[in-house]
Amino acid sequence: MPQTVLLTGGAGYIGSHTYVALAEAGYRPVILDSFVNARDDVPERLARLTGAPVSCHRADIRDATALHRVFAAERIDAVIHFAALKSVGESVARPLDYTETNIGGLMTLLRVMGEAGLHRLVFSSSATVYGAPQTLPIPETAPVGHTNPYGFTKLTCEQILQQLAASDPRWCFGILRYFNPAGAHHSALLGEDPRDTPNNLMPYLARVATGELPALQVFGDDYDTPDGTGLRDYIHVEDLARGHVLSLGALLEQGAGHLVNLGTGQGYSVLEVLRAYSRACGRDLPHVIAPRRPGDVAACYADPSRAADFLGFRACRTLDEMCASSWAWISAART
Ligand code: NAD
Ligand code: WQD
Repeated sequence: MPQTVLLTGGAGYIGSHTYVALAEAGYRPVILDSFVNARDDVPERLARLTGAPVSCHRADIRDATALHRVFAAERIDAVIHFAALKSVGESVARPLDYTETNIGGLMTLLRVMGEAGLHRLVFSSSATVYGAPQTLPIPETAPVGHTNPYGFTKLTCEQILQQLAASDPRWCFGILRYFNPAGAHHSALLGEDPRDTPNNLMPYLARVATGELPALQVFGDDYDTPDGTGLRDYIHVEDLARGHVLSLGALLEQGAGHLVNLGTGQGYSVLEVLRAYSRACGRDLPHVIAPRRPGDVAACYADPSRAADFLGFRACRTLDEMCASSWAWISAART
């Protein structure tokens, strides 16, 4: 009998890729998603990819009654909690919505899980909890902080989980601090295609490549980095998905809670990503140098050694593979 894993936000970008990785690893994933930031056809695409029907509950994570219904209908063994609002800029404009969904949603989920006798959860955290990093590469022991309401919600959620684990040994959490997820599924059936103009580099470049946006604005070329543009740790979303399978295994098989970075350990500059995307789509993508974006840091990349030691996790896909898969996905989505 396969173990059943509830993926809140499972129809979203990272959740949908993790769905496929879990199914391939022999789990039975079940989705709960409000579809506030997901395409309606994702369940159908997941069924095509996995060759099995998809169990998908359209519900809000803040709705305790709906959560109880899902726990009663499915025999859940563990939860991976992706559902959240994730735009830094929007969080500054709408801090209450972010608090309510990200912190309130987690609180409701934990209450219902406790009442259902379920105590294993993997949580989507973010390198944003490191604020402006003082050491590079960044180990999990680095000081944490927040510079915007989104970061506040992720850090607060981590702290809630740590307090709960300390209060009752039955709770066991995998806290995963993602660096910069990028790329798309190799099938070109899943990927990231935001409804509005993208804020993140890779989906923005995808729209420049399709001709929907005229040029990349490079936010600052006067940072203290080799070419003056920002350095980030881009991790292929299929590698990230595998990280969740390993995290879940550690929780279910060893009852071993953990807090780990998921990154490659390698920083790439904005201009390096621009060149890699240009190679992927076969033409030099236009760019202009623009002022620095408020709140950006010069460089942010992971020390990935704890994830390697604890979970046996190593990200293996290259920047070129991230760009090529993103381009294949967006090209397919536009035809
Ligand atoms: P996404 O927006 O594609 O996925 C989130 C999913 O949650 C969406 O399908 C959305 O419809 C759903 N959702 C949102 N609010 C909900 C609610 N109230 N009830 C039920 N479902 C709801 O985002 P993603 O990039 O896949 O991110 C997944 C998680 O990873 C989030 O928690 C995000 O904060 C975290 N994260 C993302 C990144 C990144 O750059 N993509 C980096 C670090 C951490
Ligand atoms: C990457 C680099 C930009 C767009 C954000 C969140 C973080 C996490 C991941 C959720 C930077 C530059 C970007 C553009 C550019 N999300 N850039 N022109 O800011 O590292 O991280 O997403 O947890 O919390 O803050 O990612 O992709 O926005 O930027 O020059 O149009 O690309 O300045 O150097 P970031 P990003």
